[in-house]
Amino acid sequence: MLRQALLAVSRSERAERLVSTSPLTKDVVRRYVADDVGAVVSELTRGGLLVSVDHLGEEVTDRAQAEGAVHAYLDLLGRIPEGADVSVKLTALGLRLSEQTALDNAATICERAALRGITVTLDAEEHDTIPGLHSVHAMLRKEHPGVGVVVQAYLPDAHERCARLAELDGARVRLCKGAYTAAGAYTSTSDIDRSFVRCLRELMAGAAYPMVATHDPRLVEIASTLAALHGRDPSSYEHQMLYGVRPDEQRRLAALGCRMRVYVPYGSDWYPYLMRRLAERPRNLAFFLRSLLGR
Ligand code: FDA
Repeated sequence: MLRQALLAVSRSERAERLVSTSPLTKDVVRRYVADDVGAVVSELTRGGLLVSVDHLGEEVTDRAQAEGAVHAYLDLLGRIPEGADVSVKLTALGLRLSEQTALDNAATICERAALRGITVTLDAEEHDTIPGLHSVHAMLRKEHPGVGVVVQAYLPDAHERCARLAELDGARVRLCKGAYTAAGAYTSTSDIDRSFVRCLRELMAGAAYPMVATHDPRLVEIASTLAALHGRDPSSYEHQMLYGVRPDEQRRLAALGCRMRVYVPYGSDWYPYLMRRLAERPRNLAFFLRSLLGR
């Protein structure tokens, strides 16, 4: 219930105005969103962690805004090191205007990223954008086979999706639980976890490059066990977590020799991202409300 309410609030402009104008929101935002992206990336990479950087923004309504997002990524690509990844939301690149607009814009980012030795991963968003996401991903892969895509385990067809992607040699597939609301999606923890494990089995057994995006200790353990079972080298898959969530665990996995990538969001359009993080962990809400009230 609370999760659904917070996800609804994440789409409310009125709530956004209220939350964004509070000077006390700053501390909460800083926990999940990089204030100075260059400094955060340097600190993480110095500590042996990999990064995927997300220029926050989604749901643009005209071409100029989509071009603005492309320019923000082109600028970002000049500021992050080789080996980094950038995470891109197709709705920020114009997917709601047309698939072609999102494809052209994503291709521009992929071209520049390739020159810098940086990979690109397409985030998964609201469920009505998922067919467009996979169609753009398939088209982009023809020129840019390294482009990654996210699969949300809460969608009942996630398993079939993973089975298909697992056949593609080296396809970068980020598996997560899913952070939005979706009609027909699994809602119970056990169903989502079961789906996550089925997806993991496909990915670890196949030819793809699995990117295991979860903070859930049980799923992290299962991923490592399945990787070992399939004789995977530690360089043939990676763990991924969000900036600000379980940083000690991120460092622990990296120290064990795992590839550990931290998803680092930055930029002024942080409101929907923050609300999704609060929805994942209602305990964070108390912390957030206290800081809003100045207590
Ligand atoms: P779960 O929510 O069960 O959390 C497990 C444990 O992790 C908790 O008990 C707690 O200890 C800790 N934890 C989790 N969230 C926390 C938080 N916000 N604050 C503090 N502690 C927290 N989703 C999507 O729909 N599309 C996408 O493209 C992506 N991309 C993406 C990239 C990466 C790298 C990650 C890690 C996640 C995503 N997600 C996403 C989000 C994902 O779908 C999911 O909502 C979150 O990762 C939370 O789910 P967990 O698997 O971590 O488990």
